[in-house]
Amino acid sequence: MDLMQALVKTSPATTELQRIPIPECGPREVLVKVRAAALCGTDLHIHEWNPWAQGAGIQLPLVLGHECCGDVIAVGSDAKGARSGDKVAVETHVPCGECYQCRSDEQHICNNLRLFGIHMNGCFAEYAAVPALCAKPIPKEIPYEVGAVMEPLGTALRAATEPRVAGANVMVVGCGPIGLFAVAAANTLGAATVFAADISPARLAIARRMGATYPVNPLQDDVAAVVLQATGGYGADVVIEASGSVEALKQSFRYLRKGGRMALVGLPGKPIELELGKEVVFKEANIIGIHGRKMFETWARMENLLASGKLAAAPAITHVLPLERWQEGIDLARSGQACKVIYTP
Ligand SMILES: NC(=O)c1ccc[n+]([C@@H]2O[C@H](COP(=O)([O-])OP(=O)(O)OC[C@H]3O[C@@H](n4cnc5c(N)ncnc54)[C@H](O)[C@@H]3O)[C@@H](O)[C@H]2O)c1
Ligand SMILES: [Zn+2]
Ligand SMILES: [Zn+2]
Repeated sequence: MDLMQALVKTSPATTELQRIPIPECGPREVLVKVRAAALCGTDLHIHEWNPWAQGAGIQLPLVLGHECCGDVIAVGSDAKGARSGDKVAVETHVPCGECYQCRSDEQHICNNLRLFGIHMNGCFAEYAAVPALCAKPIPKEIPYEVGAVMEPLGTALRAATEPRVAGANVMVVGCGPIGLFAVAAANTLGAATVFAADISPARLAIARRMGATYPVNPLQDDVAAVVLQATGGYGADVVIEASGSVEALKQSFRYLRKGGRMALVGLPGKPIELELGKEVVFKEANIIGIHGRKMFETWARMENLLASGKLAAAPAITHVLPLERWQEGIDLARSGQACKVIYTP
């Protein structure tokens, strides 16, 4: 049996690089030679086996990783879509194809949703078996590293698309990978002004490079005052919440303008208390939850924008490491100095 290198979460306490069999390609799967795979906060949660990971329906052992790009080298007998030789990026949301949402053009929020790299083995490995539907062929011109971040980039593109940012004053809260990609997407889609808030100066510097006009640090600046002052006292037309910070989210309602739109992407680790009358009802705030990408409308738009050079992901990719240096990647991501870390298995 041919073996491959893979980063495996073997037990709650252990993550290790192992040599395991190359996965077999099931009838509705394709086998992908992984060329680049990106580290995501979710991988850190599973590695740390925190309360979220413990409750996420994960079965160990698990090959970590869900954001990736590679080449299809084998196709299952009943697999539709990608063909051998295609360059593909992986869509993480694995829908059932049968439920109400799946039949209503909302398969990204399938009622029986499973996630690649969480509920099935992932892509921090030389090869990955990927549900055929989720192996999205992409143009060859898109570099593997960029293909590997199309999953989070697509989430951010949607978070900027749904609240209609064209001509708007937009605040992006949190400049991790999702927030930085949202800054880029908001600019691409024609936002008039992009504010970006983060507590990390390194990440704010990248936000500026990705097109933020007003980087603000809540540890130093009164964020609401900055936004209100720059918008004639009205506040931001659009807020894209990508920090997951309860405090930042609560504060953002102070500078969302009346009639404004708020896209919620970040996942606060605990319940949040809001004064709904003041913050939402009288304000007529339009709150939009965003979970991943529309399959596959978001992907098509993203490919077009990447191909035309109008959307750039590269500045958020700060490190490319061989998979052997996985621990270094995790340390870099945790330090807040790195943004997107890519492994090349
Ligand atoms: N909805 C979805 O489909 C989806 C997909 C991926 C990630 N997420 C969530 O989106 C969020 C962002 O993901 P990420 O990978 O960029 O995470 P990340 O942890 O790298 O980024 C969060 C950023 O928020 C900043 N931050 C913390 N407190 C802040 C504050 N008070 N004000 C401003 N910024 C603050 C941090 O410094 C960090 O840069 C996370 O909560 C993640 O769980 C949601
Ligand atoms: Zn991810
Ligand atoms: Zn479904």
